[in-house]
Amino acid sequence: MATSKHRPQGLQDTTSTENPGYLRPETAQGMFLNFKRLLEFNQGKLPFGAAQIGNSFRNEISPRSGLIRVREFTMAEIEHFVDPMEKVHPKFSNVADLNITLYSSKAQTSGQSAHIMRLGDAVEQGVINNSVLGYFIGRIHLYLTKVGLSKDKLRFRQHMDNEMAHYACDCWDAETKTSYGWIEIVGCADRSCYDLTCHSKATKRSQSIPCFQSFSLTRSNKTVSVVQFEANKGAIGMAYKREARSILDYLAACDEGYITAQESTLDTSGEFTIQTEGKAFKITKDMVSVKRFQKTSHVEEIVPNVIEPSFGIGRIMYAIFEHSFQTREGNEERTFFSFPATVAPYKCSVLPLSQNQEFVPFVKELSEAMTKQGVSHKVDDSSGSIGRRYARTDEIGVAFGITVDFDTVNKTPHTATLRDRNSMTQIRAQVTELPGLVRDLANGRLTWAEVERKYPVFGGQETIKKE
Ligand code: GAP
Repeated sequence: MATSKHRPQGLQDTTSTENPGYLRPETAQGMFLNFKRLLEFNQGKLPFGAAQIGNSFRNEISPRSGLIRVREFTMAEIEHFVDPMEKVHPKFSNVADLNITLYSSKAQTSGQSAHIMRLGDAVEQGVINNSVLGYFIGRIHLYLTKVGLSKDKLRFRQHMDNEMAHYACDCWDAETKTSYGWIEIVGCADRSCYDLTCHSKATKRSQSIPCFQSFSLTRSNKTVSVVQFEANKGAIGMAYKREARSILDYLAACDEGYITAQESTLDTSGEFTIQTEGKAFKITKDMVSVKRFQKTSHVEEIVPNVIEPSFGIGRIMYAIFEHSFQTREGNEERTFFSFPATVAPYKCSVLPLSQNQEFVPFVKELSEAMTKQGVSHKVDDSSGSIGRRYARTDEIGVAFGITVDFDTVNKTPHTATLRDRNSMTQIRAQVTELPGLVRDLANGRLTWAEVERKYPVFGGQETIKKE
């Protein structure tokens, strides 16, 4: 839920009332604070993105469901800043053909179920607000399925009007089905210009300060409608004395949407309230009016909008564990984790067939070569049967296993077997080739199907399968 409705102001350190400390509810704010610097890094051009990973804290929740709902968790967020007039992603075509399960707000209100839709069609038909948001939904889908979540247990649910943050123009949560039901694991929101505008107001820096609240773009001359508060300095000064300056600055920094909303409150109740400098101030009809006029501008000032994918790492990891937990057909007791090799903590095991000393140099050669190639692996030279040792590595999700056997020792060129955990099939390849093969399998450059096509399948495995 990427809304601010239940958002705490941060956990306050109550041990020191003189110097309270606050813990952030999301990683995002640091990137908004650093907007000016990030813009400079990008040569003052839009669009650009920043990403951050770190701890986030929520004091409003009651922790439960293990990793699912905690007060302190790891969050990873991207803030992708765009020109509000150009919410078109140049790489959207890369993801447009993905078929994704979407649960739109319309489907939710009308009692329909989620349905699979081509991403390109969803953006064209306006189900998803714009192609930048669509692009990130596509990339989130690709990421989640790549790290091991089942496609059929993944959907994107659109926020309903009553749960959408007031600043967001569209928001979709990636949800996954677990034993706890459907849980949100990634939020993807178009937060419009809310954060940078709030920042402008809080720091009282007007739009004329370049590269901060606003970003100048040279476009063709354009006549624009301007809506602004016209403050009665005398009345505000009389009422609020030394605090008048900050109120005037606040009113000068308000945007059209906010002004229009307050104008109607002013009409109906004769006043509205603003919050600045940690205090609330009543603004009455004699203190302010709303001015509307046309302005021809040569340089347009815009406040960048932000699209924010926000990943809850603990929840994603939890879902990977649940979706990857499998049992071998016909043998309920034999369980394994089918982690994709890219995320498996150990990519490969190295198993001598027995404790025969002749296997030792080959095990050493393979282990050293894999260390050089950066392949995380584990040598298991314990005395258990090879089948039992395979089962043990399967249980912790090791993706592949190399076995050094008598053919490795006795035949040249020296070869060993490579076993795929999920299918339990094996191929035979030269000892010198195997570390590179595992590296390519582990980083996704090679698939097991490709390996099976290239190398002879090793059939002496059958006895091991039965164990
Ligand atoms: N900046 C947007 C934001 O904070 P959020 O939906 O509140 O949005 C983003 O949080 C992600 O963080 C969620 O999709 C979820 O995966 C994770 N998350 C939120 N609250 C959590 C909690 N109490 N415990 C564990 N993970 C949580």
